[in-house]
Formats: sequence, structure tokens, C-alpha cells
Amino acid sequence: MIIKNVSLDIVCGITSKMPETGRPEVAFAGKSNVGKSSLINGLMNRKSLARTSAAPGKTQTINFFNVNEAIYLVDLPGYGYAKASEEIKAKWGKMIEDYLHKSKEIRCVFLLVDIRHEPGNNDKIMYKWILDHGYEPVIIATKLDKIKRSQVQKQIKLVRQGLQVVPGTKIIPFSAQTKQGREEIWELIDELTGM
Ligand code: GTP
Ligand code: MG
Repeated sequence: MIIKNVSLDIVCGITSKMPETGRPEVAFAGKSNVGKSSLINGLMNRKSLARTSAAPGKTQTINFFNVNEAIYLVDLPGYGYAKASEEIKAKWGKMIEDYLHKSKEIRCVFLLVDIRHEPGNNDKIMYKWILDHGYEPVIIATKLDKIKRSQVQKQIKLVRQGLQVVPGTKIIPFSAQTKQGREEIWELIDELTGM
């Protein structure tokens, strides 16, 4: 996809009604701080249209980024943000679930995991959810620049084993700093959204 224009079109909070965008949507799920918003900026060639932070829990709404008036990249709040109250966590969980269940336009849910760490319980649940709902599972292993090149295969294996991925599951290493992996992710998005 050649980026012509991007804008943050829709922001959904816990009390908002889920929008019907009428365009293909691609969603990015994963733990707080894993790099969802940074990846979306990288894909859009923007530095900070999607707000990021070194502190987890930055994205607290579901944000729909309009790309070329053609598709939406959907930034989800992260799960597992320890500082939020149980009540708020439950509401976010419900909001994400609501979106994933109700939107008729989702073509793919990318699952982001940090390439440095073994996937956690919530990652496993999310991966299973993606499979159970018939989406093509694609894992993005983020923060590639933080490990040595010689460690990459070992870490990918750890992710593969940790999530017990089904054969054929793609795992794409990505760095928001070097943009490595960006082209491969766009190729997939183009394919899955029919662009
Ligand atoms: P929430 O909105 O809290 O769920 O987090 P998020 O998944 O959107 O993460 P975000 O993009 O805000 O990034 C969290 C932190 O990780 C920020 O300080 C980013 O700069 C950093 N980060 C994200 N991706 C990368 C990467 O590929 N490499 C490096 N070195 N840092 C990254
Ligand atoms: Mg975010």
C-alpha cells in the first residue's frame, strides 16, 4: 500500500457505540506496551499520530486510523495493564471483546508479542480466540532491534512454542525503530483486505 493520507477518524471509549465503518478493518491486539501504536505509526509512516508511551496503558480507547479512505488500522488498548483497577480492566476487556465480536469488517487480527519474552497467558488466550474465530493467525514479534541478530531464530521458536501455534502460522519480526518487517506486514494487509 502506498500511503497517500491517514487520519484518526473514530475514537471509541467504554461508553461509545461500536461504529460500522463499511470498510475493511485490520486490528492489532497484544499486551500493554508491546508496541501496537508504534507499529501502526510505522505502517502509516507517521511518528506519533497513534499516541505511544514508555509507560504501559497508553491507549485506552479503540482508535480507527483511516488509510487512503480505503481501510482502517484499528489500535486496541493493551491487555494486562497491571495498574488499572479491576473494574476498569474488566470494562476494557469487554470493550475489546465487543469490538472483536461485533465488527463485520475485520479481515485480520494481528497478535503482537515482544520478541524478547515468552508469551503470557493472555497472549495464549488471544491467539486461541483468533483461531477459533476463523481468522488467519499472524503473530508480529515486536522490538526486533532490542535483540542480537543471532538471537532472532531462538526467540521466534520461543514464541512459536509458547503459543503452541498451528502449522503455517506466520511470525513476522518487526522493529518500529528500523521498520524491518514493515513491507511484509503491508503485503499481508493488502492481501487480506483485497487492496
Ligand atoms: P498500550 O497502548 O499501553 O497498550 O501500548 P502499545 O502496545 O501501544 O505500545 P507503544 O506503541 O505505546 O510502545 C510502548 C513503548 O515501547 C514505547 O516506549 C515505544 O517507543 C517502545 N517500542 C515500541 N515498539 C518498539 C520497537 O520496535 N523497538 C523499540 N526499541 N521500542 C519500541
Ligand atoms: Mg497503544
